[in-house]
Amino acid sequence: MNDAKEEIKSRLPIEDVISQYVELKRAGRTLKGRSPWGVDKTPSFMVSPEKGIWHDFSANKGGDIFTFIMEVEGISFKEALEKLAAQAGVDISRYAGSDAQITRKKARAREALELATKYYQFCLSKSKTVSEYVFYKRNMNRATVKEFRIGYSPKNGRALKDFLMGRGFSERELSDAGLLNRFNGDMFRGRMMVPFIDTTGNVIGYTARVLDKSEPKYLNTQDTILFNKSRFIFGLAQAKESIRKNGFVVIVEGNMDVISSHQAGVKEAVATSGTAMTEQHLKTLSRLTSDIRLAYDGDGAGVRAAERAIMMAGDLGLNMTVISDYQGAKDPDELIQRGPELWQKAVEDRKPAVEWLLDKYEEKLDLATAFGKREYSDVALKMLEYVKDKIERAHYEEIVARRLGVSREDLRGKEDDLAQKLRDKPKRRLKKAKTEGKSDALMALEDNLLSIMIYGGIEGPSEIEIPEDETKLSELELVFDSRYKNYSQKDLAQEAKILYARIKKEINKTEIQRLMDKLNDEGLDDEGRKEILRRITELQKT
Ligand code: UTP
Ligand code: MN
Repeated sequence: MNDAKEEIKSRLPIEDVISQYVELKRAGRTLKGRSPWGVDKTPSFMVSPEKGIWHDFSANKGGDIFTFIMEVEGISFKEALEKLAAQAGVDISRYAGSDAQITRKKARAREALELATKYYQFCLSKSKTVSEYVFYKRNMNRATVKEFRIGYSPKNGRALKDFLMGRGFSERELSDAGLLNRFNGDMFRGRMMVPFIDTTGNVIGYTARVLDKSEPKYLNTQDTILFNKSRFIFGLAQAKESIRKNGFVVIVEGNMDVISSHQAGVKEAVATSGTAMTEQHLKTLSRLTSDIRLAYDGDGAGVRAAERAIMMAGDLGLNMTVISDYQGAKDPDELIQRGPELWQKAVEDRKPAVEWLLDKYEEKLDLATAFGKREYSDVALKMLEYVKDKIERAHYEEIVARRLGVSREDLRGKEDDLAQKLRDKPKRRLKKAKTEGKSDALMALEDNLLSIMIYGGIEGPSEIEIPEDETKLSELELVFDSRYKNYSQKDLAQEAKILYARIKKEINKTEIQRLMDKLNDEGLDDEGRKEILRRITELQKT
């Protein structure tokens, strides 16, 4: 059924499904509208077409097209699936248990993509202007273009479709492969085509770049029966031998950085494609090596991304370093254009990730002030939690203490305080409330806090559990993008504190209500009543 779900999702743009119920207006990368449930005064309903996710801030609900139909129509998942399958023209009976059929579909999609790639390669060889872009503007050589199977998609809108249908592929098969847009024309038009190649050598999708300044700069294949963006690692097919042989991997931000890096002789470069790094990406890489070198930008977004990566790496016991000196170049590709040797050197010149982050915070905060010191020690201690090795950790504690001008004992004291705070009472209370069914208000507060913890890189209280469900994670990313994108690290930390305080209050309120209800219980004796009143008074104080 998961394949049926994916199939339906890939055929039904979320905005089409939702705009049957809610009027949507574009606001940047997301669409906004009024909640179909709430009485919101300002539009509080968000849709991300890219992620295929919606979130309603007023009713605090969210998810994908299936949860939307379930909620709005008040029907079961099965009914929603049937309804949307009909809209998408997907025959779900075909999915019922038939593995052979799915294998067959995947094989056909692979064949279509292989042929499409050859076709795009041919189109590149025939166009002088496109060749100029690839060979001169992007400075790729013949070997690189061949190895990465670079091509070009014609502009006319159905060139590829005509070609492949002429070779016996059905519209349905092309759509399964992610080659058609929602009007059933060619998905990619007038773009430089860079295939996503999996580690067995199959093309499973594309990232496609415009040749001029138009938007969007890159168009990527959405998830299909073959392609899953939170698992796929761009360049791994070409890099895995070198990674194994030389024992390290370099993670860069852009696909073009990967290609340039390979051409510059650093063949250990890979990237995540059009999405933030996930634990699955890191796990895959960790099977090849534990020496992970991040080449991220030093800007706010880059630091936040690195911070997330460092926390995940800590949990997986990986050794992460950061390559950040591009000598003023915008990204590795730009540095390589100045001279491949500059990049080769940069890859050697790296800092342990924790040290790099500490430096970043030191640049940003004024360590001469008490406030700066507190902020710095907060983030430093938070990062040190992810350093699992005791000796290594002692080393960093030393550095942090020295920078703050305090003793290691003082630092340790604060560390213990923090740990103690987390271990204290609120935890038990939170856990208990969890099983009692949460109010909408509470869930909204938790979603906001979670989005800041996951996508803002702010450490939250440990009792707030990070969800593992991918749809939920995308939804939280949408919450983050629409609410907190422009917040500084400091504002995020502040907001997280406020949210946590409100969460505790909300939980208290629920607990007090529960105790009040219990007071009316007939069978209660005086002692019991007194005890409950005492607990209520206690809760009201906090
Ligand atoms: P960048 O904008 O830094 O692109 O986005 P780049 O790799 O330097 O590309 P060039 O050099 O301008 O050609 C980094 C990555 O973010 C994703 C892509 O995966 C890209 O490699 N991205 C960016 C998109 O998916 N869509 C976009 O419109 C832009
Ligand atoms: Mn670039």
